Amino acid sequence: MTETVLVTSALPYANGPIHFGHIVGAYLPADIYVRFRRMLGDDVHFVSGTDEHGVAITLKAEQAGVGYEDYVDRWHESIKRSLEHVGIEFDVFTGTSHHRNPFHRELAQQFFLDLKAQGYLGKHSEEQFFSEAMGRFLPDRYVEGTCYHCGYEKARGDECPHCGRYLEAQKLKDPRSTLDGSTPVLKETRHYYLDLGRARDEWLKDWFESKRGQWKPNVENFVAADLADLRERPITRDLPWGVPVPGENGSDDGEPGKVLYVWFDAPIGYLSISKQYWHAQGRPERFEELWKGADTKLYHFIGKDNITFHAVVFPSMLKGTGQGWVLPENVPANEFFNFEGRKFNTSSGWVIPEEAVADDPTDALRYALTTMMPETADSEWTWEEYRSRVNDDLADNLGNLVTRTLRFVEKFFDGRIPALGELSERDAELQQEARKAAAEVQEHLHAFRFRRACQAMMGFGNACNRYYDLEQPWVAVKDETTRSRAAQTMRVCCEMVRVLAHLIAPVMPETSTTLLRTLGRDGESPSFERLGELGGGAGLPEGEIVGAALTGALPRFVDPRGREISAPFPKIPEARIAAELERLHDLAKRQDAGTGKHSPGSDADATPVAADLEPIADEIGFETFAAVDLRTGTILEASKHPKADRLLVLRVDLGFETRTIVAGVAASYTPEELIGRRVIAVVNLAPRKLRGVESQGMLLATDDAEGRARFLSPDAGSPNGARIR
Ligand code: MF3
Ligand code: ZN
Repeated sequence: MTETVLVTSALPYANGPIHFGHIVGAYLPADIYVRFRRMLGDDVHFVSGTDEHGVAITLKAEQAGVGYEDYVDRWHESIKRSLEHVGIEFDVFTGTSHHRNPFHRELAQQFFLDLKAQGYLGKHSEEQFFSEAMGRFLPDRYVEGTCYHCGYEKARGDECPHCGRYLEAQKLKDPRSTLDGSTPVLKETRHYYLDLGRARDEWLKDWFESKRGQWKPNVENFVAADLADLRERPITRDLPWGVPVPGENGSDDGEPGKVLYVWFDAPIGYLSISKQYWHAQGRPERFEELWKGADTKLYHFIGKDNITFHAVVFPSMLKGTGQGWVLPENVPANEFFNFEGRKFNTSSGWVIPEEAVADDPTDALRYALTTMMPETADSEWTWEEYRSRVNDDLADNLGNLVTRTLRFVEKFFDGRIPALGELSERDAELQQEARKAAAEVQEHLHAFRFRRACQAMMGFGNACNRYYDLEQPWVAVKDETTRSRAAQTMRVCCEMVRVLAHLIAPVMPETSTTLLRTLGRDGESPSFERLGELGGGAGLPEGEIVGAALTGALPRFVDPRGREISAPFPKIPEARIAAELERLHDLAKRQDAGTGKHSPGSDADATPVAADLEPIADEIGFETFAAVDLRTGTILEASKHPKADRLLVLRVDLGFETRTIVAGVAASYTPEELIGRRVIAVVNLAPRKLRGVESQGMLLATDDAEGRARFLSPDAGSPNGARIR
């Protein structure tokens, strides 16, 4: 039975580049799922676009000194390209700003009016910080002050990073605008609120309970916690950019100076973008058929920070209008994806540089990302893991099967697919494996277990390679009496390559197409139907030329720049990984030392990452400092510690005497280079034995960007033994 399926990917903010962390969260899984459902014959509509309103975008555009429209256009194009680069194919990808999508404003306003008519919107005043300098209200994140719980001085208007408590901005002590440091004043403003408590009591809780066991556990847990504490939420803002709050008649001046909150209008974007698409297709009626269809199944692919909005707030809006909009069937949210142990961070450069993967086949990226997907827990991209997935799974397993099979058929059977003979026991077993793999891939994809689906694909590839090795066609083909067995082996292998081409199609669409073309099945649409059946019209027609499109002995594989490569997935050399890791190592050091670039995060709502410096120690009085006797000196001799690799034994001229000082700097300096070096020593520290050698003081040092110790030296002119104050 075919189904009508709507798939959405979270609308990325048009406020910065999109990186693999986003892609693996909400775009790649959706694209795989869409391709999968199409393989099943379902009628699928796949929608996304950019999220172009909100305070972060408004301010960024103003800071950049460009108009709002130009600003979002720029990011819209960049994001679109990045998504295309990994083969994400939407039916439509536009956005929420009026100039890009003329249906959005009207539809969002209609939602507002419908909710109001149904009694879901309350309206009341509250005091909010207002910047007189800028002539506008300051959203919570743009106010900083002293935390009224713990006294921390740089608490944000919504949360204190020191004690972690939730804050009400109005109560901050000594408030400042983070934009210009000026002191904001409290001013009264009226806003509309969405009554989520009512939605919960009337139907939301029951609806959610009815979904129990069907949604991913990470999503269910999140929603359950949300439902326990649901209150009304403001859905309007005082901002110059966004969807104007409508008047009763649908005019734009319901509340001059106020717009709908970005999280109110953005999800409506799924609908308005789809509406725009169907109008452009000349089938406007299709929009409501889909979005109000009793049998439509709606899936929202998102990252975990969007769960509340998609599983609680947006359903409340959809249902609350009373217009019969379809509710989500499932909200398969992913957890967070990191990069080599840290959060992706565009502004500090902690991302996978585009040029680092520009030559890699798109499918290699798609596959590797899928195997690392944060499906149920946070996960990360590591270069080593990427290399293993490409080399072990794609080159040695899948690629190897493909190339050796095709090469063999070219060489010994004129590139013609051999006739199908009687199935041996081993042939039949492999056929059984093919059916099992097809069933497993489907089962996992239905349940959004993309990683497990990849494992099933590769497990089957392994089974095929094992079969090839056991059959030893290279031996059989040499002898007239066993040559027909080699032919049968190759026929089975060709069939299995075709099975693989179908199985991998959702994850690796390009490779799938190339393989099918090579097998003379150009244009065959991927499907699970009759997969693994041989002969009887289901398998490959015999006598066809394998690799019809080629001139040489192998199918043509091309890299993303259109250059020909000899195997579908070239191996990644160790050196390339080492180079990437080195770059990161340097970057990490620079960031940790606080000298990295720290322009405010360009990730829409992300907090700028503070330099990872050591916190300042507890305050001390001057006497405590003065109690430490620091003197200048010169290193006269240096040698390795007899028992500890880490340590050097130094003789230091301190003016009044020469002392032995043991320092843990062997990894940073050679003894030779230290001779004659000026240093600063703590001279009234109680002596201690370090692995048998008594140290009579300590030298001041810090770390460089690489983590190596660096001694501090006095400027020229101070004699040895001079006191430091
Ligand atoms: N722009 C939001 C984000 O990046 C996601 C919006 S999803 C939508 O977190 F449903 F609101 F469109
Ligand atoms: Zn605090």
